[in-house]
Amino acid sequence: MGRLASGKQILLIVAGGIAAYKTLDLARRLKERGYRVRAILTEAGSRFVTPLSLAALTGEKVHQDLFSLTDEVEMGHIRLAREADLILVAPATADLMARMSSGMANDLATAVLLATRAPVLLAPSMNTAMWEHPATQANLALLQKRGCQIVGPQAGDLACGEVGAGRLAEVPDLIAAIEAHFAPGPLKGLRALVTSGPTHEPIDPVRFISNRSSGKQGHAIAAALAKAGARVTLISGPVALPDPEGVETVHVETALDMLAACKQALPADIAVCAAAVADWKLKSPASQKMKKVKGAPPPALSLSPNPDILATLSDLGKKRPRLIVGFAAETEKVSAYAQAKLKAKGCDWILANDVSEGSGVFGGDHNKIHLITAKGIEDWPQMSKQQVAETLVQRFVEALSSKSKVKAR
Ligand code: C5P
Repeated sequence: MGRLASGKQILLIVAGGIAAYKTLDLARRLKERGYRVRAILTEAGSRFVTPLSLAALTGEKVHQDLFSLTDEVEMGHIRLAREADLILVAPATADLMARMSSGMANDLATAVLLATRAPVLLAPSMNTAMWEHPATQANLALLQKRGCQIVGPQAGDLACGEVGAGRLAEVPDLIAAIEAHFAPGPLKGLRALVTSGPTHEPIDPVRFISNRSSGKQGHAIAAALAKAGARVTLISGPVALPDPEGVETVHVETALDMLAACKQALPADIAVCAAAVADWKLKSPASQKMKKVKGAPPPALSLSPNPDILATLSDLGKKRPRLIVGFAAETEKVSAYAQAKLKAKGCDWILANDVSEGSGVFGGDHNKIHLITAKGIEDWPQMSKQQVAETLVQRFVEALSSKSKVKAR
């Protein structure tokens, strides 16, 4: 990852959550990248990490007290609020977000958050039930409306023993969000979501239904969008590729998980659905490995359709991304079928590619694209998947610079 923002000052507000320990590693890595990191530790935060460790890793005094005489003689909290280029709240607890959303200023953290004009990035972390509570969701929606950006939370095992959404975003994802914030580039301030790779639909714990997809094209698009300054969430099915730099990557297995992760990544300005989503899933996957019984007929698999992620995103009403792009892999009548798909899915553009035998598209490094929009068809020459990604991003820049930018969350 590049050192895009050397010298920028980040004010890290560490609130009281079990994930607070991750901010120590974050502070160290941000320093390595050339950021100046100052920290505020809330009363609850100091139960999880010590001011001494934060001070050692940031190389700065740690601020804790709104009524510190030495700090307040110089209006310390106003200075902290004014001097930051970006404020990162990690972990952003349910309590801190509730106090922020109601404009309270009853400790140093909330006073600074109320007094600042700097952009604020919230990294929520809490128990799943607390995260899903309508109060937390309403507070979050209000904070987003006021311009706070959100990174995470991610789904997974939580410290409380539950499994679900609520984990603090991982340190590389926090860094990606920060670097995207400072990145120069024509798509700066815009958010993009990209789906990539296949999905796996379990038959039993060891078998699955899937599609052929290396994820190379989707991952290249996510990387190119990030390079152009967009804040990118890549929702990837199982692939053998590294996570692209500067991108928040969410790993999923099934189409249902992919759709849920896409919804979680909203709002977005741009959506690119490059994943090869399995059209069907098993109605009821077996919980134990299905055994071969000699002489018995093979099991009949009863299937049900998966949701169409592209069509769902295109039909979201107010939450619909402004520019939605789908792919059409066809083996014949490529342009005609792709035009029909544009209508059927309700998306804005289709990138159609010929995957007929001998085209070498699947798993290969090249692609031959026809870009189908309401204006007509553009035939692109054969290019590498990286060049396809860069050309597509160029088209985004052209299309979006003629429309007004939406407020990044
Ligand atoms: O219908 P078909 O699979 O040919 O459409 C391909 C396009 O639709 C791709 O952009 C793919 O990512 C998207 N798609 C989807 N969800 C599905 C099926 C396809 O997002 N369930």
